[in-house]
Amino acid sequence: MYPNQDNLCILALETSCDDTGAAVMINGKIHSNVVATQEMHARYGGVIPEMASRAHMVNIVPVVEEAMKIAGVTLNDLHAIVYARGPGLMGSLMVGSTYARSLALGLGIKSLGVDHLKAHVLAHFIDGKGPEFPFLNLLVSGGHTMIVKVESPNRMEIIGKTADDAAGEAFDKCAKLLGLPYPGGPWIDRHAQKGNPKAFAFPESRMPSYDYSFSGFKTAVRYFLQDHSEKDPGFISRNIDDICASVQDSIVNYLLKIFKEAAKHENIRAVAISGGVSANSSLRKAFEQLASELGLPAFIPKFEYCTDNAAMIAMAGHFALLDGQLDAPDAMPYARNDADF
Ligand code: KG4
Ligand code: ZN
Repeated sequence: MYPNQDNLCILALETSCDDTGAAVMINGKIHSNVVATQEMHARYGGVIPEMASRAHMVNIVPVVEEAMKIAGVTLNDLHAIVYARGPGLMGSLMVGSTYARSLALGLGIKSLGVDHLKAHVLAHFIDGKGPEFPFLNLLVSGGHTMIVKVESPNRMEIIGKTADDAAGEAFDKCAKLLGLPYPGGPWIDRHAQKGNPKAFAFPESRMPSYDYSFSGFKTAVRYFLQDHSEKDPGFISRNIDDICASVQDSIVNYLLKIFKEAAKHENIRAVAISGGVSANSSLRKAFEQLASELGLPAFIPKFEYCTDNAAMIAMAGHFALLDGQLDAPDAMPYARNDADF
């Protein structure tokens, strides 16, 4: 039973990709948020799904134990266990969902799978009041790029999305072309701070309505680097900071240009940004600037709530449980969420 906000103690699990996360939320407040990041994927230049599942298997028990210990709760204190149900890597999702549902069954408490993307959007409500509704959220992660209109914690609509690569993928693929480690977003961010964002120009694709496309941009960067490196093998190493700053500037400007059009046309009370790419320093700055031009309050999560974490799963679970949602007996993880949001 979790009749109201005053006695709701939740354990939350995040295992959708390569981060094993556990968090404890009591009465809507975060009491612990533990993440074990799987470093080994860097060696392969991307996430290897089978290795990610195996690492989740190894990490999940110690991560949960640590989260419970930090929060000072025992299994008997829990009212529900929530977990990321999808989208994500199926093997990884299976680890979290199976663990959560079995533990809940054993304890005689409820379980609930929540949408990972909705959780990224609801990260604004962790440790604070969050934006007023309705608000417009730019969700930019390694696997997704979308503009979401949020009417309430349990009612949101995607009004624009990428037709191909996500913004995080664009960062990561450009970083790979530059010989930087995976995930490349933070590396581009770091180099960009020393470079000239207007040194090189890259094209952007105009899509219908508020949609994005990054495939043309990525190809343009690849040919640009190939052409210059053929003529001058030292081109990349000598210009790495300027190239990173220019790549970053193009991605940030493109993301915000479309988002601004959407924000102007929608009747909203706030603008917000979330997902792993919202950790980007240039995007955070430019987003604040955009919000002030629009005359709307801006919401950007703390760094630890931008990339994958279980606190946001707890937040989404908290809202959904108060809304009366529970797992159906046959609830299964899902790799994609095209059908429903
Ligand atoms: O939300 P997230 O942790 O995982 C997914 O759900 O995909 O996002 C990971 C993505 C990666 O593509 C990573 O390169 C990007 O977020 N990222 C960044 C920065 N920090 C993380 N991209 C640009 N600048 C950053 N500082
Ligand atoms: Zn994510």
